Amino acid sequence: MSKKIIHSFSYEEFNSVSELPKNVHLAVERAKEATNRSYANYSDFLVGAALILESGEIIESSNQENASYPNGLCAESLAFFYASSKHPEQKISAIVITARKRSEDKFRFTPPCGSCRQVMLEYEESQGQKIPVYLAAANHLIYKIPSVCDLLPLSFSGADLE
Ligand code: THU
Repeated sequence: MSKKIIHSFSYEEFNSVSELPKNVHLAVERAKEATNRSYANYSDFLVGAALILESGEIIESSNQENASYPNGLCAESLAFFYASSKHPEQKISAIVITARKRSEDKFRFTPPCGSCRQVMLEYEESQGQKIPVYLAAANHLIYKIPSVCDLLPLSFSGADLE
């Protein structure tokens, strides 16, 4: 007899950044600003990410595209690679992600792509501490996903190579 296995997770919705801790509020602003520095000449889809390090430092990034499309990099992956190469000793406390179309001012609910989920999971697992993912959407709404692993059930990771 087969048995059904249910995997579920919950996440929170905030109506305003003022309900968030101050550093997350600031990171939301920095992620939004970072969309102004996206190099997104092919998609016109501007993604901004802001990482909060345990020191309190905020590292922001934006998507960087390329005429050879697959060579482009997503904002989230860039932020993680940069943080790990510059501050390998520091844990990552949280990430904020947002995006907008170039032709619009309105920020959108933008969940990270599958590839970025895998990149983020690597660092979450290696640091042994959950990384909450905040998604800044339109109308000041913010969603908080408690950890990267919630976004990637049945994931493949370093443990599978042992
Ligand atoms: N993009 C990101 O930066 N992060 C994601 O998680 C989804 C997609 C970028 C890649 C490309 O530059 C543009 O958004 C359209 O896919």
